[in-house]
This record gives sequence, structure tokens and C-alpha cells, in this order.
Amino acid sequence: LLPPNIQMEGCGLRRENCRAKGAAPGFKVAVLGAAGGIGQPLAMLMKMNPLVSVLHLYDVVNSPGVTADISHMDTGAVVRGFLGQSQLEDALTGMDLVIIPAGVPRKPGMTRDDLFNINASIVKTLCEGIAKCCPNAIVNLISNPVNSTVPIAAEVFKKAGTFDPKRLLGVTMLDVVRANTFVAEVLGLDPRDVDVPVVGGHAGVTILPLLSQVKPPCAFNAKEIDYLTNRIQNGGTEVVEAKAGAGSATLSMAYAAVKFADACLRGLRGDAGIIQCAFVASQASIGVTELPFFASKVRLGRSGVEEVHPLGPLNEYERDGLEKAKKELEASIQKGVSFIRK
Ligand code: NAD
Ligand code: LMR
Repeated sequence: LLPPNIQMEGCGLRRENCRAKGAAPGFKVAVLGAAGGIGQPLAMLMKMNPLVSVLHLYDVVNSPGVTADISHMDTGAVVRGFLGQSQLEDALTGMDLVIIPAGVPRKPGMTRDDLFNINASIVKTLCEGIAKCCPNAIVNLISNPVNSTVPIAAEVFKKAGTFDPKRLLGVTMLDVVRANTFVAEVLGLDPRDVDVPVVGGHAGVTILPLLSQVKPPCAFNAKEIDYLTNRIQNGGTEVVEAKAGAGSATLSMAYAAVKFADACLRGLRGDAGIIQCAFVASQASIGVTELPFFASKVRLGRSGVEEVHPLGPLNEYERDGLEKAKKELEASIQKGVSFIRK
């Protein structure tokens, strides 16, 4: 008889071989920060996604337990766990999509920018690993402050010679999810029937809901516009305060991250007409802004972001909001760039 650890390994390999022969092809996805408040429900929901064939769960703590737990779910994806920096490269090799919720969350009284000092270094290290081990993977970056961590990731990839603006996406999906929910409440609709574009960035005034472009078409009075804009811009703070020191949004974020990752995977598969909002590389010539990064509606496809949509017609309220957003965004982007170039 083989020792138990070898037997276990043998079983694992056999199971994978069977799967490879019988199952539909799927994508290989890594979650970095998989043992965290977002990481755990995100990992669970990705294990339930039929487009995922292999799921790598990486963290600097507790990933073996989370992996053992999730691996018992009777869904198709094969789950493997990776613990600590020495296993980062194995976690990343061969991945099609890397989702990053690693980093510290806010406590009441903090801004997202207050997380910069810790999270900037975490994102830098993880992106260096991606550049080395899976330079063609699509990256979904959740770690805050997104307005700075996405420019940090871009600079790391540029330094490594692997930067592809189509493949780096800051996740702003939670702003859209919240906007759909709050607008549906005001209109008395099912949130699943509502689509609110949210552009700009992912912090305070940089979160710019375009209420004039809501689908289905509708009109709001001035009071409703103020209420909705403030509620959407401060949705994160609402959760941070309600959790009273125990972290920020995790469950709604995991839901939003999986909705977004699923859209990226369907794009990779070649599905047509996949449109979502995300914080991506940008430029004035495509009808967005002169800023190098901006959250816009994007069309997702086989190579990632295949088209960045122009902002479309804005009303006066939105034009004012855009000016405020651009000022803050410019500084946050520059802070991220300088962190790597310094
Ligand atoms: P958490 O503290 O519960 O979990 C973070 C996890 O990251 C922990 O398990 C930790 O061990 C891990 N981690 C730390 N350093 C790491 C490293 N170097 N490599 C791999 N893993 C590492 O925090 P959370 O509530 O899950 O939030 C995570 C991040 O997501 C925060 O920065 C938070 O602000 C951000 N966030 C973003 C959005 C968004 O809309 N983009 C929404 C919610 C939260
Ligand atoms: C959110 O919007 O919920 C996240 O960015 C977390 C936070 O700090 O608000």
C-alpha cells in the first residue's frame, strides 16, 4: 500500500484526468486573497460557476482550510490551495483570469486612500507575480484604493514589458449593483430590470452614476437625483459604518465580483454583446476624458476590453460631477504611478 499522502495525490490526479476527458473545457481562475472577507464567498461562488474548470485559492493565511472546505462542493471546478509568497508562482501559472481581493479594508472614519500604504505594496507584489507567471491573464483588481491600485498594476506590468490595457480591469461593479438596487427602490421596479451606468472611479465623488442614462428610460426630480447620487457615492461608507470596525462590504462585493468575472469569462469564450462598467485605461480620443484611467462602459471579448464606450450625453448635474471626479481621480492615478516610478 502507498503511504496515505501519495494515495491522496494519486486520487487527485485521477480525478483530474477523468475531468479533463469528460468535462466541457473551462477557464482557469485564481483568487488572490481567497481567505478574506470577500475572498471566501467569492471563491465559493466561483466554484459554482460552470465556466470555471480550475480554481486556485491563494492567500498568506488560512487558504488550506478554505480550500479544503470549498473543494467538497460537488460542482465541476477542481480547487487547489496555495499558502504564502513561496507558492504564489504555482498559484498563478497557467491562469486565464486572476481576481485580486487581497488587502486591508476600511474602518469607520477612514477613506479608501488611507489604505494606500499597505495595499499598494500588496498589489505590487501580486502583479509582479502575474507579469512573470501568467502575463496574458485578465486581471480583475478589487483591492482599494482602486483609483490608485489599477495605475500601480499598470506600472508594474509596463516595467515587466507585459502591459496590455485590454487585460487590466479595476472592479467597479459594486457601484453598478448598488445603483441598480437604489434606483429600483425609488422607481418601484425589480432591480434586475434596471441598468445604471456608473463611470469615473471607485471613491466618493469619483463614483459618477449617470442617472440620465438609466434603462428603462425614466425621469427623476432634483431631490431624487441628490438622494440617489449621494447614496451611490457613499454606499461603501454606509456598510463600513454599519459593520462598526468589522470591515467593509464583503458579501455584496463577492456577488458583484462574480457577476463581473462571469462577464469577463463569457467575453473570453467569445459571447457577443457583453457590456459592463470597469475602471480601465482610457483616453480623450475615444470620447471619455483626458485621464489615463477612467471607469466606463466597456465591451468584453476574447482579448478582454475590446471597446471603451464614450460617456454619451451628460446633463448639467453630471457635467459638474464629472469635473469634481476628474480632479480627485487625477491625483489618485498620479499617486499610484509615482509609487512604482519613484
Ligand atoms: P479582509 O481583510 O477580510 O481580507 C483580505 C485578505 O487578503 C486576507 O485574507 C489577507 O490575508 C489577504 N492578504 C493580505 N496580504 C496579502 C498578500 N500579500 N497576498 C495575498 N493575500 C493577502 O478584507 P476584505 O474585506 O476581503 O477586503 C479586501 C480588499 O477589497 C480591501 O482593500 C477592500 O477595501 C477592497 N474592497 C474593494 C471593493 C471594490 O468595490 N472594489 C469592495 C469592497 C472591498
Ligand atoms: C465599497 O465600496 O464597499 C468598497 O470600496 C469598500 C469600502 O471601503 O467602502
